[in-house]
Amino acid sequence: MTMQPKKTLKKTWSGRFSEPVAELVQRYTASIGFDQRLGLVDIQGSLAHAQMLQACGIIAAQDLSDIQRGMAQIEQEIINGEFNWSLDFEDVHLNIEQRLTALVGDAGKRLHTGRSRNDQVATDVRLYLRHAIDESCELIKAMQTALLDLAAQHTHTIMPGYTHLQVAQPVSFAHHLMAYFEMLKRDAERLADARHRMNRLPLGAAALAGTSYPIKREMVAELLGFDGVCKNSLDAVSDRDFAIEFTAAAALIMTHLSRLSEELILWMNPRFGFIDLADRFCTGSSIMPQKKNPDVPELVRGKTGRVNGNLVALLTLMKGQPLAYNKDNQEDKEPLFDTVDTLTQTLRIYADMIGGITVKPEAMRSAALQGYATATDLADYLVKKGLPFRDAHEAVARAVSFAEQRHCDLSDLKLEELKQFSSLVEQDIYAVLTLEGSLASRNHVGGTAPQQVEAAIARARKSL
Ligand code: ARG
Repeated sequence: MTMQPKKTLKKTWSGRFSEPVAELVQRYTASIGFDQRLGLVDIQGSLAHAQMLQACGIIAAQDLSDIQRGMAQIEQEIINGEFNWSLDFEDVHLNIEQRLTALVGDAGKRLHTGRSRNDQVATDVRLYLRHAIDESCELIKAMQTALLDLAAQHTHTIMPGYTHLQVAQPVSFAHHLMAYFEMLKRDAERLADARHRMNRLPLGAAALAGTSYPIKREMVAELLGFDGVCKNSLDAVSDRDFAIEFTAAAALIMTHLSRLSEELILWMNPRFGFIDLADRFCTGSSIMPQKKNPDVPELVRGKTGRVNGNLVALLTLMKGQPLAYNKDNQEDKEPLFDTVDTLTQTLRIYADMIGGITVKPEAMRSAALQGYATATDLADYLVKKGLPFRDAHEAVARAVSFAEQRHCDLSDLKLEELKQFSSLVEQDIYAVLTLEGSLASRNHVGGTAPQQVEAAIARARKSL
């Protein structure tokens, strides 16, 4: 990009100005440094607009074919990295329009008839985000598939389920993974929902009030794959809800991934030792030769802050803005693009990382055996034999404290020992106190019984 603006160059809009804009101001107000990423969608929008102008008799057939020829060349220049983005033309829209005019002459100058950069940029960002959402949904699917593939192998792998990060009740590793499947499912739904509201065409709103040309907005909407047109011109050029909704959905996805990241980091710690991550997702230390650090999950956790920050930036950007378009809106792009990049890169790397997890079932099992994870099962057993739940709770609490003093598990206590806490305990208690028995008994939709988790995995596969 030409970063040195030419002081003498005439601006597209400088007709009424008596002196050239200050160089500092030119740099300060330009967006070409970051909005060039909208180049291809800007062309897509312009071609649909031109096609409509011609169909409505506003420009000639020759103008349209000149515009199409010029745009085809510009598109190639952009794709090949040969387009010369220049600070002299402020933003992506004026850069492309200027190049078009240089290539095809007057037809290029006619393109902007009945249009403003205000409805143009709103259209571009919607087209860009629509594509980013579709890509994100595909990446979410890939990650969900990776979770399902891993879960399918571990419906009988027992680990401690936690509350307060203290051992609570046994669950299968598959059941734990499927919790993340559910989060991602809601995430994909949220993106689809945001896409639905986003998919309306701003073009035709022009600067803010509409245009006096006999345009056909529905035709442009159809050409660009929008479900309809924005119904109020002031709202069309000033609304950035779609950017906020997308970023909010992205922040929530990152929040989910940061939770999983935290678990992977804990599980990889030798004190847990539940899993190992493939070497390609870890790094070593320059000073401590023994280290293998879970950098990728740590960075995911860290980058969540970035996306949350982008959300706050966009909300703050819109707060208090009067109708209609204000230059403030140019500031929507960097947080948005950063969110798209962070989200898609994170999802892409995550699907691969899940596939590279080595599970250590023995470590999970011995952790589950350490925290009296089946205490609730003992209480439930007593309740089924007629004891009120609160009394059962009390009896089991005393049994746990007894076992604790003997440094053993509840299932290690003899029948006579258990009977001290309730005479209702019989030989059949031992089936209940095993980890397998505990899992198998939670046999309803949403429960951790292997049969239920297998059914959940089958349903999930079908839904993808
Ligand atoms: N670069 C501007 C943006 O991103 C395009 C719209 C500018 N419109 C205007 N009237 N200055 O918002």
